[in-house]
Amino acid sequence: MSTQVSKAEVVVSPGEFFQIGETRRIRSAIRLELTEHSYLPKSDDPRADWVASVAVPAFKTLSQMGFLAPRFCTIGTGAGLDALAAVEILKARTVGFTDIHDDVLEHARRNIQSNLLAQDVELVGGVGDLLSPLVGTLSEVDVIYENLPNIPMAETDDLADGQTSSTFIRERSEEIPGFAEKNLVTLHYLALQQAYPVLRVGGRVLSSIGARIPISEILALSGAAGYNGSVLTYTWKVQSEPHEVVGGFARWEREGLGPFHFYPVSVLREAFDGLSPAAAGARALQIESELAPYEIAAVDALALVESGEKVGHTVTVLDSVKVPDHAL
Ligand SMILES: C[S@@+](CC[C@H](N)C(=O)[O-])C[C@H]1O[C@@H](n2cnc3c(N)ncnc32)[C@H](O)[C@@H]1O
Repeated sequence: MSTQVSKAEVVVSPGEFFQIGETRRIRSAIRLELTEHSYLPKSDDPRADWVASVAVPAFKTLSQMGFLAPRFCTIGTGAGLDALAAVEILKARTVGFTDIHDDVLEHARRNIQSNLLAQDVELVGGVGDLLSPLVGTLSEVDVIYENLPNIPMAETDDLADGQTSSTFIRERSEEIPGFAEKNLVTLHYLALQQAYPVLRVGGRVLSSIGARIPISEILALSGAAGYNGSVLTYTWKVQSEPHEVVGGFARWEREGLGPFHFYPVSVLREAFDGLSPAAAGARALQIESELAPYEIAAVDALALVESGEKVGHTVTVLDSVKVPDHAL
C-alpha cells in the first residue's frame, strides 16, 4: 500500500504504482519529500496519478518494444517520481530533470538520489524554463518525457503561490503556431522544439497530453516541430482539481479557444474497458470517434462539476521520433 505520511512527505510503493513485483534499480518503498510548490503524487490513488497511470505505461510500452533510454530527461519533474520510473523501467543512467521552481528541483534531486539502488546513475538537474537550463549540458538523449501544464495563468494568479502545476505563465516570446495556441498546447509544442537538438537521431519525446482536443491536432504538434509523430498510449482519467482545471478550460473556451472536450466517467470507463494503454493507443482514433457523441464542452462540464458531478478526459502520450532530416 502507499501511504501519505504528511503533506511534506509521501511514500509510494513501486509494486502498486509501477506494477513491478521487485525493483532492481530503485528502492521498494519510495519516500518523496515535497514542498508547497511540488506537484503532489496521488499516493492513495495510483489510477489518478500521472506517473502511475500515464508515464509508467508509456515507459513500459517502449521497453516492450525493445527501446531503452540510457540517456533520459524529464521536463517539469515535480517530485522526481517520473525520473525514478525511468531509472527502473527504461534503465536510465544519465537522468536530466528540470523544473521551474528552485525548491521543487532541489527536492526532486534529493528524492531521486535517496531512492536509487543503482550505482551507475548520473543526475543532471537544472532550474528554469522547459529544457533551457540543460541546453549545452545534455546531448544525444534517447527519451525526453514531459507532462507540462496546458492552461495559461490568469492575470490574477501568482506563480509563487502554492501549486500551479496545471497552469503556466502566458507571455512567451517565441513564435507559436496558431493551432497550438488555440488548443492550449503551447508548452508541449515548445518542449518539442527545444528537445530536437538535445535528442540523438532515433530518439523520441513522449508528451503526456490531457489536452481535451482532437487527436489529429495533437499529432500535428509533432509535424510542426519536425518529428514523425504517433500515439504511443491512450487512456483516461477522472479530472483532478476539477474546479480549477475545468474552470480554466471553460474560461479560455468562452474567449474563443478550443472547444475542449470532457466526457462522463461511466462512458470513458466502458470505452477503455479491458484495453491496455498501448492497445488503446493503437486504436485511438477509433475510440475517439466512438466517444464523440458523449463529448461535453468545457463550459458545460464546469456546470456539471459545480453541481457535484465528476467528469473525465482522455490522455494521449504523443510519441515524436527524431528522424534524419532527409527521411522527412
Ligand atoms: C503536471 S506537473 C507534472 C509533474 C510530473 N512530471 C508528473 O508527470 O507527475 C507539471 C510540472 O511542470 C512544472 N513546470 C511548469 N511550467 C514549467 C516550465 N515552463 N518549465 C519547466 N517546468 C515547468 C511544474 O512546476 C510541475 O512540477
